[in-house]
Amino acid sequence: MTEPPPTTGPLVLGIETSCDETGIGIVSGSRLLANTVSSSMDDHVRFGGVVPEVASRAHLEAFVPAIREACHEAGIDVSDVDAVAVTSGPGLAGALMVGVAGAKGLAAALGKPLYAVNHLAAHVAVDILDRGRIETPTIALLVSGGHTEILRVGDIVDDVELLGQTIDDAAGEAFDKVARLLGLAYPGGPQISAEAADGDRTAITYPRGLSRPKDDAKGHRYNFSFSGLKTSVARSVESARAGGDDVHVPDVAAGFEEAVVDVLTYKAVRACTDHGIDRMLLGGGVAANARLREVLADRCAEADIDLRIPPIPLCTDNGAMIAALGAEVIRRGHPPAGPDFGADSSLSVDTVFV
Ligand code: KG4
Ligand code: ZN
Repeated sequence: MTEPPPTTGPLVLGIETSCDETGIGIVSGSRLLANTVSSSMDDHVRFGGVVPEVASRAHLEAFVPAIREACHEAGIDVSDVDAVAVTSGPGLAGALMVGVAGAKGLAAALGKPLYAVNHLAAHVAVDILDRGRIETPTIALLVSGGHTEILRVGDIVDDVELLGQTIDDAAGEAFDKVARLLGLAYPGGPQISAEAADGDRTAITYPRGLSRPKDDAKGHRYNFSFSGLKTSVARSVESARAGGDDVHVPDVAAGFEEAVVDVLTYKAVRACTDHGIDRMLLGGGVAANARLREVLADRCAEADIDLRIPPIPLCTDNGAMIAALGAEVIRRGHPPAGPDFGADSSLSVDTVFV
């Protein structure tokens, strides 16, 4: 365990543009001063998912207004900022590029150092803002529309390891796709969740991807797959319709949600027990899912695991988590990023800062 960071420290402005949220956060050490998020989600609704080119344009338009708004919220002038931090990856290449280019311009204009940090590690580092410190080692389960991972975090800056991830769709993406199939609006997570609340979770049993012993043997012990589940839901809906039956949306939604939640929680708890770690942190937009929170809390309690779930605005993609990780990198005395780093859409999670 590392010593807790001071509650105040350098004023760091964090910039997040890896997907469809332009997030600007301002922290003073471990204290959160502002967290403004401008989402382009409405622009993606008619496509039923995030369109990278549309997201990039939206970042460009939102960038300066979001910085102004965050400074206003924090009660500072942008020239007061001591350092700028930016997500350099992983994420959508074009979207990341807008953030990286904007951050370089801002840091150069202010004459302040620039830190480039990893989006996934930042989802974990955000806990520093919630309780002033991050306790390690911990397992992190990150579930969003863009990614789904299990991480082992020995230390938030020096020791982050990817144990597993989805080999196809992200969990949130699966919610969005199944919602579309059921005629529900985008984003699908909240819609499915609302339908599932009225359904019978045991009426339809959908497959749990990569959960057989032979999947473990193939190196998938902590990996996920949601595309087979999505296909299975599509088949059950089609065959009901072909037989002239009404599709009972609440039961389908409940069966689907149960399958996703079961496999996510089962594998995350297993990662804890396998590694002798008794802490878990949940992050990403799917952390808003009530059933996921409930089942994860139950399974963690059964296994004596201390579960952390930051407040939802800190779980979804945001700039505060980038500022928090940037502040931690600074606190540890690391130098800023060199001038020639770029956006890296597949940045490895063990590269916490560039
Ligand atoms: O982290 P996030 O805000 O950003 C992106 O990934 O872009 O996550 C958004 C994702 C969407 O796929 C959405 O359907 C899902 O999180 N989501 C949920 C719920 N609320 C949002 N999924 C399941 N249940 C929810 N209540
Ligand atoms: Zn994310």
